Amino acid sequence: MSRPEQLAPPEIFYNDTEAVKYTSSTRVQHIQAKMTFRALELLNLEPSSQMLLDIGCGSGLSGEILTEEGYIWCGMDISPSMLATGLDREVDGDLFLADMGNGIPFRPGSFDAAISISAIQWLCNADTTNSDPQRRTLRFFNTLFASLKKGGKFVAQFYPMNDNQIDQILSCAKVAGFQGGLVIDDPDSKKNKKYYLVLSAGQSERQLNLQGLNMDAPMNKVGNNKKLKKKVESTKNYINRKKELMKKRGKVVAKDSKFTEKQLEKLDPTFWRRDLIKPSERNGGSILRPGDIVRVMYNTRNIPTFTGQIIKISKKNLDSNLLLRNLINKVGVELNVKLFNPLISRIDLVRKPNKYKLRNRQYYIRGNRLDVGDLDASLRKKK
Ligand SMILES: C[S@@+](CC[C@H](N)C(=O)[O-])C[C@H]1O[C@@H](n2cnc3c(N)ncnc32)[C@H](O)[C@@H]1O
Repeated sequence: MSRPEQLAPPEIFYNDTEAVKYTSSTRVQHIQAKMTFRALELLNLEPSSQMLLDIGCGSGLSGEILTEEGYIWCGMDISPSMLATGLDREVDGDLFLADMGNGIPFRPGSFDAAISISAIQWLCNADTTNSDPQRRTLRFFNTLFASLKKGGKFVAQFYPMNDNQIDQILSCAKVAGFQGGLVIDDPDSKKNKKYYLVLSAGQSERQLNLQGLNMDAPMNKVGNNKKLKKKVESTKNYINRKKELMKKRGKVVAKDSKFTEKQLEKLDPTFWRRDLIKPSERNGGSILRPGDIVRVMYNTRNIPTFTGQIIKISKKNLDSNLLLRNLINKVGVELNVKLFNPLISRIDLVRKPNKYKLRNRQYYIRGNRLDVGDLDASLRKKK
């Protein structure tokens, strides 16, 4: 069977029909999510890393994992149809139409890290007689290097057609100044074998997680550092996150562990907390959304009532929380409210916005004219 790269240029291959077909396939969603998690594991990012670039982001299947993991991301892709599908799905990242072979169109030092899932093999193909894959690949790596912060990292899962393509990619990365190499997962499996290019633009606090490094290039030795691997993610978090993901995709997943269920029952016997973030018959499917203004009351006088606009909702069972923002005495104040905190007596929805912000990009309101304003004063006025 021919590979997509051999059939047509990417912006033509990924047309409206293909973009919808690709994005709605549960098999594709599954595989892309799995590879994105693996890329993040290899990146082994510092907790302070926030801003990521997704190269060849398509319709945002890889990007939505970045959102789930709490990163802010920008995505670039050459296919208008894939990007349009991403916009329809209201992905959280900012999307740019750009050809990676023309270089990464961002200022130097813009990103903590970059990922690319199933895209960079396209660089190895010449779409027109005057396009030179080697030059395009080199321009890509040179500009990527510049767009990363010092010590920034890049992990790309890709599908090389042959060893020449691997050599082309590795040698251009090296010329651009990257350190790193290639990790091959499941090397003996014809079906599951996966190639990850794992690079860093100089030294970083936390080294790349190079378990399974297969082909080498100048690199600091990380070896089989189990602690590092463990730090990447605990098993419990991994399982919970996977379960949430599968639930979102409409799959039936195993019930939460008896411990979690018991705790939830104990902390929320009447379901009012869970009903705030999970659609059910009790709440008629109506749940809180980023942009809503809520008031949080505590059952102790020591903690004052807090009113705030929801910037983010994290749904993680017992660790679920709402990030609220208000402007108090002209100072932006943010409070992370743990939904199952037993000291909270109630959380009331006070107001819904006239219009929800596109893609709920609440983070961007901080400190600009879109900021929340003094909510208490505005609510008093309304009365
Ligand atoms: C298989 S899709 C992967 C999309 C996304 N990363 C995911 O995980 O679902 C490959 C994507 O690479 C994009 N692509 C191919 N060549 C590109 C180029 N030269 N510049 C930017 N994007 C490109 C395609 O348009 C397509 O959306």
